[in-house]
Amino acid sequence: MDVVRKIGLSLGADICWPACYEALMRELDLKIKMGDETISFDVERVTIEPFDLQQPVKYDLVIDRLTHWYHTSREWIKKAILLDDLYVFNNPWSLQSMEKHTSYCAMMRLGMPIPDTWLLPPKSYDPSPDLSPTLTRYARLFDLGRPGDAMGYPLFLKPYDGGGWRSVVKTNSEAELRLAYEESGTEVMHVQAAVHPHDCFVRCIGFGPQVRMVRYDPGQPLHDRYTLDTTFLPPDQADHLRKITWTINAFFGWEFNSCESLRQDGVWYPIDFANPCPDSQVTSLHYHFPWLVKAYIRWSVFCAATRRQMKKNLDWEPYFEIAASDRNYEEKLEAYAKLAGDYFEADRFEEFCHQHLGHLDEVAWEFFSSMEAKRAVRAKTAAMFPTHEIDLFTELFWGRIQDWRNDTASGAKQSVSQG
Ligand SMILES: Nc1ncnc2c1ncn2[C@@H]1O[C@H](COP(=O)(O)OP(=O)(O)O)[C@@H](O)[C@H]1O
Ligand SMILES: [Mg+2]
Repeated sequence: MDVVRKIGLSLGADICWPACYEALMRELDLKIKMGDETISFDVERVTIEPFDLQQPVKYDLVIDRLTHWYHTSREWIKKAILLDDLYVFNNPWSLQSMEKHTSYCAMMRLGMPIPDTWLLPPKSYDPSPDLSPTLTRYARLFDLGRPGDAMGYPLFLKPYDGGGWRSVVKTNSEAELRLAYEESGTEVMHVQAAVHPHDCFVRCIGFGPQVRMVRYDPGQPLHDRYTLDTTFLPPDQADHLRKITWTINAFFGWEFNSCESLRQDGVWYPIDFANPCPDSQVTSLHYHFPWLVKAYIRWSVFCAATRRQMKKNLDWEPYFEIAASDRNYEEKLEAYAKLAGDYFEADRFEEFCHQHLGHLDEVAWEFFSSMEAKRAVRAKTAAMFPTHEIDLFTELFWGRIQDWRNDTASGAKQSVSQG
């Protein structure tokens, strides 16, 4: 029996990855045989319009890039999950309620070496009727020097809910910390011990069980922060970071997310891992962009084809049981990653890709030499750069994609996680 699974793309400013995703899905023209079904896929962009809460949803799966800020789509998605069992990544409730602060607390409980962190009441407030009685009764004067003394300098002052380097300040002394706090306005801020010095900064992009680790250089301009370095991690450390990424993403039910860790004296300190709508743009990912597009395809096709059930609720107890056991950190991490591997059906996914998506690497390798792919790169570049830089940067990003093609030799089979 022929069946069609409908995949919706819920998009905002995204230009490049959806264009490549759609083109590759067209070229793949999948006909996946499972049981007595032959499954093909129809990809469509989700539009924004008024909706009846009980109106049926035409999609089987939606890839969502709007929930973190566009509330109409967020509420449509919640309705579609609750009433129609739509599969969406990422889970809108988890995304809405778990900010950086929650992610720190949870991973501290799991034993990860999160740098010491304090939360501060804000410096100033927007007016509200209950503000004055609340603060008069309960807010205590505090000495900002105390967290500074407790943790030592340098310290980072940064918003508890993070994102895009907004209001992040590194302070080297109590005087600098006081000044930064004075200027922090209505933001609720963390003060966090710096992992300083560190000898490696890695961003791990997780997509279902797929993980790509990129050495990140925050001192560079945006287009050079994801480095082209692919051989910087010994296998045991790559495995350690994979387990951290799996654990975080499965714990919060985030099917795509990016996790930042810093290494000091051989220890990996996760510092920023609540990014569940991770950067997917060719203008920052360039060399790594084809991997991400393939990761989108593999995970969405797997979930839609197998009718994977979306986990609407999170279950943290199994993780807390491991955390409370007398195992050491590496053993705990191994046990968390096992839970996460089950959560993401890692083995079944690997087998599925092997059986049904074996030609993806080759098709993608060809596609990323095509004019259609180059047009997608140019369109995103044109949206981000001033007119006189569009040609220059299009060629830069395109050149790096060609470097990726050269490095992955004629579309030869690559591992699902790193290719
Ligand atoms: N504890 C820390 N130690 C060292 N560097 C840090 C620390 N916290 C933040 N930074 C630096 O500041 C940048 C932004 O902080 P981050 O927590 O990642 O915020 P955002 O959520 O805005 O990305 C990081 O990429 C890193 O370069
Ligand atoms: Mg960050």
